[in-house]
Amino acid sequence: MRILSGIQPSGSFHIGNYFGMMKKMIEYQEQHELFCFIANLHAMTTVADGELLAKQTLDAATTFLALGLDPEKAIFWVQSDVPEVNLLTWVLSNFTPLGLLERCHSYKDKIARGFSPHTGLFTYPVLMAADILLYQSERVPVGQDQKQHLEVTRDIALKFNGQYGQVFTIPEPEISEEVAVVPGTDGQKMSKSYGNTIEIFAEKSQLQKKVMSIVTDSKSVEEPKDPDSCNVFKLYRLFLSRDEAEALRQRYLQGGVGYGEVKKALAEAIWQYFTPHRERKKALEEDREFVRKILKAGAEKARSVANETMKEVSKRVGIIY
Ligand code: ADP
Ligand code: TRP
Repeated sequence: MRILSGIQPSGSFHIGNYFGMMKKMIEYQEQHELFCFIANLHAMTTVADGELLAKQTLDAATTFLALGLDPEKAIFWVQSDVPEVNLLTWVLSNFTPLGLLERCHSYKDKIARGFSPHTGLFTYPVLMAADILLYQSERVPVGQDQKQHLEVTRDIALKFNGQYGQVFTIPEPEISEEVAVVPGTDGQKMSKSYGNTIEIFAEKSQLQKKVMSIVTDSKSVEEPKDPDSCNVFKLYRLFLSRDEAEALRQRYLQGGVGYGEVKKALAEAIWQYFTPHRERKKALEEDREFVRKILKAGAEKARSVANETMKEVSKRVGIIY
C-alpha cells in the first residue's frame, strides 16, 4: 500500500500533530511504501518571512527524523524540491470548480482569523491534491481537519480521470477515531492557531506549566469524576497502555483522585516519552548538513515517481514532454 502525508513547517510541533499524524506515519514505514514530506509551499500561505520559513522547514525535518522517521525505509523530502508539483497544480486547477474551493472550511476559518485572502490561501487544496495525486497515493493519513481537502482531491482526480481516462489513483483518507482530535489545554482541538498547545520538545518547566494549565471542572479530590469529559484524562490516555488507562478510568469513577496529581503524572509521562527523541534531535541539530543530505536524496527518489505521473499527465493534456 502506498501511503502519503505531509506536514506544514509552520512552528513547533505539538502532541496533537504527533498523535494525529506523525506517529502513525512513522509506524507505517515498517510495512508500507511511505511517502512523507515537509509542506513548505503550503506554509508560505501563512508564513511571510523567508528566513523563518527556511529555519522552520529544516527544523520540521529534524523533528520528524528525531521522532523516528527512517529515510532508508521511507521517502522523505521537502515539497519544493520536487518542482513538478507546481506544474501539476496548474493542470489540476483547470479541473477544480470554484465552488469546490469556496466551500472549504479551512480557507473560511483562516480568513475569519484575519489572514489576507490571497489566492495562495484559496488554491491551497489544489496544491494539496497535486501532492497526493503526483505520487499515486492510495491512502492519506490526516487529522479530521483535513478530511474536506481529501474530498476535494478525490473530486478533482475523478474529474480528470473522467475527461482523460484512468491516470490518477483515487486516494482514501485515513482518520483514526481514537486520536481524531487531540484536545488542547483549553479543551478545544489542540492547534497552533488557538494557543493551547503542548509542544513535543518543550523545556521541562514550560511543559509542566502547560500541563498544569489544562482546564478541568472544579470537583474536589474525593468526588467521583467523569474521565470521558476530562481533558487531562483524554491526553493522558494517549501515553498509557489499555490496562493503565482502564485503571485510571476506575480511579476517576470511584473518586479519591485529584486533578493536580494526575496533571503532575501526565507532565512526567510526556517528558519521559519524548526523552530519547529529544536527545536524537539535539544530535541532528549539530549536523545540519547530514539532514540536508537526507532531504536531497529523498527528493530524488520522490522526483522519479513524480516524473512518471507527469509524463502521463502531459501526454493526456497535450503538453509536449
Ligand atoms: P495546527 O492546527 O496546530 O496548525 P496543522 O494544521 O499544521 O496543525 O496540522 C498538522 C497535522 O497534524 C495534520 O495532519 C493535522 O490533521 C494534525 N493535527 C493537528 N492538530 C491536531 C489535533 N489536535 N488532533 C489530531 N490531529 C491534529
Ligand atoms: N494541508 C496539510 C496540513 O495542514 C498538509 C499537507 C499538504 C498534506 N499536502 C498534503 C497532508 C498532502 C496530506 C497530503 O496538515
